[in-house]
Amino acid sequence: MTDTPSAATPLSAPSPLRAVPVGDLAREDAANELAVLADEIAGHDRRYYQDDAPTVSDGEYDRLRRRYEDIEARFPELKDAESLSERVGAAVVSKFAKITHQVPMLSLANAFSDAEVEEFVERVKRFLDLGPDDTVTFTAEPKIDGLSCSLRYESGRLVSAATRGDGQVGEDVTANVRTIGEIPDRLAGADVPDVIDVRGEVYMGAQDFLALNARQTEAGKPEFANPRNAAAGSLRQLDSNITASRPLRFFAYAWGEASSRPAETQHGMVDAFARWRLPTNPLTVLCRSAADLLAHYRMIGERRATLGYDIDGVVYKVDSLELQRRLGFISRSPRWAIAHKFPAEQAVTELLDIDIQVGRTGALTPVAKLAPITVGGVVVSNASLHNEDYIQGIGGDGEPIRGGIDIRIGDFLTIQRAGDVIPQVVNVVLDRRPAHAAPYAFPHTCPACGSHAVREENESVRRCTGGLVCPAQAVERIRHFVSRNAFDIEGLGDENVQLLFDAGLVRTPADIFRLQDHGEELRKAFFAQREQRAREREAETGRARKTVRSEDQRQFLGVEKLLAAIDERRDVTFPRFLFALGVRHVGEATAKALAKRYLSLDALLETLEAAVPGRPGEAWLRLLGIAGVGQTRAEGLVAAIATETIPTATEAGADPETTLRMVFDRAKLNSRQRVALRTVYGADADILAALAAAHQQMPRPEFRDLAGVPDVGEVAASSLCEFYAEDRNRALLDALRAEVRVAAQAAPTASGSPVAGKTVVFTGSLERMTREEAKAMAERLGAKVAGSVSAKTHLVVAGPGAGSKLEKAQALGVEVITEDQWLERVGEHV
Ligand code: IVH
Repeated sequence: MTDTPSAATPLSAPSPLRAVPVGDLAREDAANELAVLADEIAGHDRRYYQDDAPTVSDGEYDRLRRRYEDIEARFPELKDAESLSERVGAAVVSKFAKITHQVPMLSLANAFSDAEVEEFVERVKRFLDLGPDDTVTFTAEPKIDGLSCSLRYESGRLVSAATRGDGQVGEDVTANVRTIGEIPDRLAGADVPDVIDVRGEVYMGAQDFLALNARQTEAGKPEFANPRNAAAGSLRQLDSNITASRPLRFFAYAWGEASSRPAETQHGMVDAFARWRLPTNPLTVLCRSAADLLAHYRMIGERRATLGYDIDGVVYKVDSLELQRRLGFISRSPRWAIAHKFPAEQAVTELLDIDIQVGRTGALTPVAKLAPITVGGVVVSNASLHNEDYIQGIGGDGEPIRGGIDIRIGDFLTIQRAGDVIPQVVNVVLDRRPAHAAPYAFPHTCPACGSHAVREENESVRRCTGGLVCPAQAVERIRHFVSRNAFDIEGLGDENVQLLFDAGLVRTPADIFRLQDHGEELRKAFFAQREQRAREREAETGRARKTVRSEDQRQFLGVEKLLAAIDERRDVTFPRFLFALGVRHVGEATAKALAKRYLSLDALLETLEAAVPGRPGEAWLRLLGIAGVGQTRAEGLVAAIATETIPTATEAGADPETTLRMVFDRAKLNSRQRVALRTVYGADADILAALAAAHQQMPRPEFRDLAGVPDVGEVAASSLCEFYAEDRNRALLDALRAEVRVAAQAAPTASGSPVAGKTVVFTGSLERMTREEAKAMAERLGAKVAGSVSAKTHLVVAGPGAGSKLEKAQALGVEVITEDQWLERVGEHV
């Protein structure tokens, strides 16, 4: 997203900043506000991603999201599987085909206290017009922390499977669900309906989750934050072979469309599922009062840590389906059910130290080093402290957090884990603050290289200025360089990058491509790492290793694989190469825009060569930054100072006062602007000197050409020039170019397009482009667009609601893809 939506887009006024600081919100208000914010944000996501017509600036959007996240961070118990923080527009921009749920998939209302559960029971009875002595039977069962999924069985066979999506339309994950061993392909039993959507939760067990993360680390891939993310990431794989390799599991607990029902109660239905060999949760019981429900809640709470899978509460449902029908729904949740959430698990522990980590761009991030403590079955010894304001008790919006109380080394902190593995600091236990605890002084130098660390105006982050001399930044840059959207080198995860850096084998990105010359040292480094890990494990478990396998052999294979993976990436696309350099403000979108404009790395470097001397300097930027002096006046001023007829202040005999007046007049400055200049620069002679310097340092046309490329702008252009102006960066570019081949971007023509010469049919409704745009795009890429499907059709792009054309394509065996798949396929060529 850019911060300036196109001029044609009307911007709505920014929503007023929420009046109450997050730190002061009562939970009920927080819950309400989260719901309102979620709707607002979802609307913006839709307008941005789907309609291409955002109505707010990025800044405003970010403010809403930050507020949402801050509230969630403070009340993690309000977070549920549908939390916005778990998805970034993913619900709408999906790689999967869509499936419309015949019966919507609903969510549950939450209860957080015994009183709220009692109210729920009362509400149900009142609605059903029952007296205080009448009883209603409920089921109580664990609320599984996974992702819900709808499995459609027709004539007992699994025909499709969909994620919840937005509740109305989900993603087609049939191929992936078929790889889950616990989900039967066929339902066995005389009472299996002709059609039934069985619903339940796909999840990952705790042990399986740990093992998966260990494998991820081993393979140099990022770890999953928690079992729910791991389950979701595994189910939403385009390659079902990957899903198959992930140990996913399932519990059935509800249903959607059903042509008949095997039972008249909730528990009867779940029993039927179990008879049909679907997995169901064994901790489901029947309860006849609020007291019964609460007792079961406590029992499950006590067993929570040993269940072997994550749960985040207990779900209560009215058992009789007839009563469920009478109770119906309020908005998107059933009136007959409620989720009783567990409180976030908290513990108090001592802050031993604050570690400062240095990121790729030099950002210093403080991490709390805690006296290890068990929170909800997990030993916690680190927690994020975000930034120096956070330590001081100031939130992102400048408002106090924790009542404005700062965090000091030696303090006792209340920390919590709410589902996520990374715990948060909730509060400082002031009563236990040691007398000698001093306010934390955030370092002004980089802990990794000793360079100055500065904080720019309006930024909460302090950054190391050490650039490439800073080892921490160097490691992070290499990590970025090999990351998925950059060079995407398999086997070079965070840990291995650090290892190779420490071993002195990879200090700059180009070194990666010279590793082949250091095979022996590589093997040694990996071997030493394994030994070290084994020793640590032994120390932890107190057990010695059973056998020493042929380590040499294994290291050999690991190293060969890594070198092969590196070799595979010697050919790289231009945008990837640019993005991989990790230049500040040059993200993927900017890299693509530059590639599109300059087509080859050579052409871009030539442009930079010319633009560097023409980039704006501090003096010019300072002049531009003076309140009331816009681009036009600044240009007028420097033009006036450059006019030969005006003697400059430095010339002997010149009178600064007269000269300055002439300059001001010529630039048509009003009195307020004159005062502003005097305030900033001081005396007349100083103003003249500053204007002369600004003139010297104003951007030249070569720079403006670069900054004028759509989606680039002055900030990224300056940053690129700064990068290129540094000798060591140019040396880095040369070194890299000796190792890799950067493909020139194809000019936007049909040649080389994956659909050139093909006949394409669009059918159904398209969501991300109009029919005309789709047709124009296809034709530009050399395809022929036809109105009907025949044996000559090569490709059908089908959106929701596709009918006879889709059927015909399927009957003829013509390839059918979704709109998203189409965009993915042609993406690099348009
Ligand atoms: S019943 C109409 N039962 O919780 C009610 N949901 O917050 C349908 N969940 O989207 C849901 N365990 O993903 C139900 N035993 C359980 C559940 C459960 C987990 C999830 C489900 C749902 C979410 C609602």
